[in-house]
Amino acid sequence: MSELEKINSIFNTKIEAVKSKEDLQILKSEFFGKNGEITKQFKTLGTLEAEKKKEFASKLNKIKNDLTVQIEQKGFEIANQEINEKLKNEKIDVTLPIRPYHRGKIHPVSQVIDEISSIFSEIGFSVAEGPDVESEHNNFTALNTPEDHPARDMHDTFYLEKNKKILLRTHTSPVQIRTMANGKPPFKIIVPGRTYRCDSDQTHAPMFHQLEGLNIGKNITMGHLKGCLDYFIKEFFEVKNIKMRFRPSHFPFTEPSAEVDIGYKIENGKIVIGEGDKWLEILGCGMVHPNVLKNVKIDPNSYQGYAFGIGIDRLAMLKYGINDLRAFFETDYRWLSHFGFDPLDVPTNYRGLSK
Ligand code: PHE
Repeated sequence: MSELEKINSIFNTKIEAVKSKEDLQILKSEFFGKNGEITKQFKTLGTLEAEKKKEFASKLNKIKNDLTVQIEQKGFEIANQEINEKLKNEKIDVTLPIRPYHRGKIHPVSQVIDEISSIFSEIGFSVAEGPDVESEHNNFTALNTPEDHPARDMHDTFYLEKNKKILLRTHTSPVQIRTMANGKPPFKIIVPGRTYRCDSDQTHAPMFHQLEGLNIGKNITMGHLKGCLDYFIKEFFEVKNIKMRFRPSHFPFTEPSAEVDIGYKIENGKIVIGEGDKWLEILGCGMVHPNVLKNVKIDPNSYQGYAFGIGIDRLAMLKYGINDLRAFFETDYRWLSHFGFDPLDVPTNYRGLSK
């Protein structure tokens, strides 16, 4: 066997045994390194005479190319194997349960807004929204609240500039104006959103949430208002009977106006909604004032309807047994993990709203 054939056969045995990138590197330097077998052979070329040199060089080059190709191929094989190995070991088992401590919680106020939207959507209301920063016109004037009307003080408004033209909305009612001024009747909307008043104690926060309702059509009456609220309260509190009373009241933008109370009692330290002889005020409402309709260019002789405004935070506190309003806005994660809701627990009227 010639020297080159010997080298070739040793190489063949050795490459068989190569299992990793490191093994391959060692093999490569054994044959092509500074003192490698093939390198050594190239060094002998100088000692040969012309004829032999030519013949040997051609054989040597051939074997050099041959081995180089084999090393490259082995390199690919190993890389491929490594990828397959990785894929096998790092496979994600999608059937494993998720880790609950990584999950966020839905704030009770967001949950209640979803519940309310779901309930009203069942009877044909759609959801409208408006900005927190409002014009004095939409918040007061267009809602039939004249310049010197006490409601402007009553609402303890946060004005954003000296001449009192821009403010933080004190209620969601300006969205009535926005909706009616930009569309054609009939309107049937609810408006959940943030509202602001300079007020702060256990039951009042400077920022709170309201839900406006507006239903304008050809023959809408106070009877519809009562029916709608009766349906809503029963669905929301998930009770069959609800004691409800309309107390005459006053709002500049409704006539007649009423405040609505629902009956409740305390049983074993717990509040039971719908029965009992105690009353709880939950919303303001009334028939939309003709002046408001005129302000948005709707003929009050052709169209009329009702509006109501509910305090969302109050409803959330009642339904989920939360007794301090301020906790809603303290962003205490421990509180939220107790009172919050699971993200996939989306409320529906059919599956039930609460857990
Ligand atoms: N906007 C009133 C308030 O904030 C509530 C209300 C809305 C009353 C719609 C009547 C009609 O007090």
